[in-house]
Amino acid sequence: MARRKKIYEGKAKILYEGPEPGTLVQYFKDDATAFNAEKKATVDGKGVLNNRLSEFFMTGLNMIGVPTHFIRRINMREQLIRSVEIIPLEVIVRNVAAGSMAKRLGLEEGTQLPRPIIEFSYKDDALGDPLVPEEYIIAFGWASQQDMDDIVALALRVNDYLSGVMYGVGIRLVDFKIEIGRVYEGDFMRLIVADEISPDSCRLWDIATGQKLDKDVFRRDLGSLTDAYTEVARRLGVMPANTPNTSKPTLIN
Ligand code: TMP
Repeated sequence: MARRKKIYEGKAKILYEGPEPGTLVQYFKDDATAFNAEKKATVDGKGVLNNRLSEFFMTGLNMIGVPTHFIRRINMREQLIRSVEIIPLEVIVRNVAAGSMAKRLGLEEGTQLPRPIIEFSYKDDALGDPLVPEEYIIAFGWASQQDMDDIVALALRVNDYLSGVMYGVGIRLVDFKIEIGRVYEGDFMRLIVADEISPDSCRLWDIATGQKLDKDVFRRDLGSLTDAYTEVARRLGVMPANTPNTSKPTLIN
């Protein structure tokens, strides 16, 4: 079989040319990185879990009318997505102070914020994804004022959806990151949710115990990342179908 054309390789995913124009295949690797790839590891099964979990969240968003790049899952590690022009921003929504916000402002992690707060980082590994004000984004032409209004509306809808879904399974959505892409339909441009939504890009805390069920387990060496992500998948009823079949073979007449 001819080798597929690789379009882009990131830290956790690879994008290949898709089967039809306007599509791509998104492959989820087992690689985990933190602190701008200063810390690296291979975490068995992470790619499979994130493929499933991102499918689950993106499908739910599509169902409630929040447009995403997700088309369908292809196999354990790959999904078919719409090709988009990525806006070079990390759109971060925070409900509870944690991570870099807690550090920057000297807030105790776990402090409930007065309202969801949205912030933007400029996607540039060499610069370490610096936080940027909206004024920079517009002045440098990464997005227009109208785009920013649409991005904020999308981010808040994603936040409401994800918070509710997670609350339903006893998990507090502390914060998350999404990326937004442009798609062109005739003369029109639309913004849609792209990249991935998974425990790699969210902070998820068990409501009862406060246990971390996200990539902070890896960042802060808190135990098994696979176990944490498997727990999220289990609660959501999204288990990868790779459980060995131990039943005896049956004869088919
Ligand atoms: P932060 O508190 O480290 O700024 O992270 C905020 C949220 O964004 C958290 O849910 C983790 C997510 N995130 C990413 O998805 N990618 C990144 O590179 C970073 C730094 C954070």
